[in-house]
Amino acid sequence: MQKIVIRGGARLRGEVRVSGAKNAALPILASSLLAEGRSIYRNVPALGDVRTMSRLLAKLGAEITAKPGGISHVDTSRITELEAPYELVKTMRASVLVLGPLCARHGRARVSLPGGCAIGARPIDQHLKGLAAMGAKIELEHGYVTARARRLRGATIVFDVVTVTGTENLMMAAALARGHTTLENAAREPEVEELARVLNKMGAKIHGAGTSLITIEGVDELHPVEHAIIPDRIEAGTLLVAAAITRGDVLVRDCLPEHLDAVLNKLRAAGVEVTADGDGIRVRGKSDLRPADISTQPFPGFPTDMQAQFMVLMTRARGQSVLSETIFENRYMHVPELQRMGADIVVEGRTAIVRGPTRLTGATVMATDLRASASLVLAGLIAEGTTEILRIYHLDRGYDRLDKKLRALGADVRRAKGSL
Ligand code: EPU
Repeated sequence: MQKIVIRGGARLRGEVRVSGAKNAALPILASSLLAEGRSIYRNVPALGDVRTMSRLLAKLGAEITAKPGGISHVDTSRITELEAPYELVKTMRASVLVLGPLCARHGRARVSLPGGCAIGARPIDQHLKGLAAMGAKIELEHGYVTARARRLRGATIVFDVVTVTGTENLMMAAALARGHTTLENAAREPEVEELARVLNKMGAKIHGAGTSLITIEGVDELHPVEHAIIPDRIEAGTLLVAAAITRGDVLVRDCLPEHLDAVLNKLRAAGVEVTADGDGIRVRGKSDLRPADISTQPFPGFPTDMQAQFMVLMTRARGQSVLSETIFENRYMHVPELQRMGADIVVEGRTAIVRGPTRLTGATVMATDLRASASLVLAGLIAEGTTEILRIYHLDRGYDRLDKKLRALGADVRRAKGSL
């Protein structure tokens, strides 16, 4: 297994490009199942979860060809299986995104229930409630959920909680349902809007994506599509924080600032200099940072996927910052590792209090989930001495060669053989 070894202290400088968005690529790849034929996707990020989704699609019978430069061809002409097995769903919960498309186009889907995960319980009851309202017969047996429907029918669905993949699954299902579907209290994330853009290109009739009220007029058939995926706002945010904490000067290119308002506002509130620059965002880090209070919220609020990275930034600020994690119940697994590096963080329930500035020192630490691993990389960049991060497959699940990008900006980061 590989580890990442970082010698802290370098100030990052230069330009870096953001890759395609993981959380847009995953539902878009799943949406290929709604049509028959070959779709072409560009700007597909090279990361573990995309490879897992490709494996899942291949298992269902699709032919996937990955071309150089982030281009994927997905041919769904011969779908031979309708099941997402446990070994893939347990590796990646987003596998559940095939449920809506398979049920809508093939009349049946069997998907392993994901179970708990490192950051919280993460049930899929809202996905199932919506499919049931659209006429699917849902059965739970042997750890699998089966959804069956000769043809789904439009329905009015009010989500009890705002769910990103739940909104995506039902939007895909409704695209091929008979009649009109309304999704209320829908997720407004840019990735939901992006999926709707792709579905509409395929011939769907979806309005309102990007707001909390989405309406879908079902159509009989969708066709394959060619599409370039939007940039990853969380990768962009992670790189911006990397520049800010190292007091660097970095232009993060190919990102969409309108997807990053909440993150940019908090960076500015902390005293980081952030400016729009052409097709990118430039960050100049300052040595004296102010504390910030942050509560994670669904979009357009501050993303839970940036909470761990901001916590590292807050160890640099003078004073006390308060972070509240409102989306997932167990998303502070990076805290004990940051404490071992010298951070002053106290967690009480869903609130973390960070006191700074503290001097971090390099240590051997363990990555536990994707964003936790990113926060440990950031901590390594500013720690005195050497930090070794084990289990970095978590990082590679969701970042397209983050270590390489940081190295190109001057960080002393390398991969080595790890023991765990
Ligand atoms: N929830 C339910 N019932 C459901 C669905 C969700 O109670 O049926 C709860 C969850 O337990 C959670 C909250 O609703 O407390 C929000 O979960 P959501 O369904 O929105 O999360 P998700 O769709 O499983 C996506 C991203 C996550 C990101 C969250 C929140 C993808 C593939 N994943 O997950 O990304 O944290 O939305 O924005 O889009 C990551 O990239 O590191 C990551 C975890």
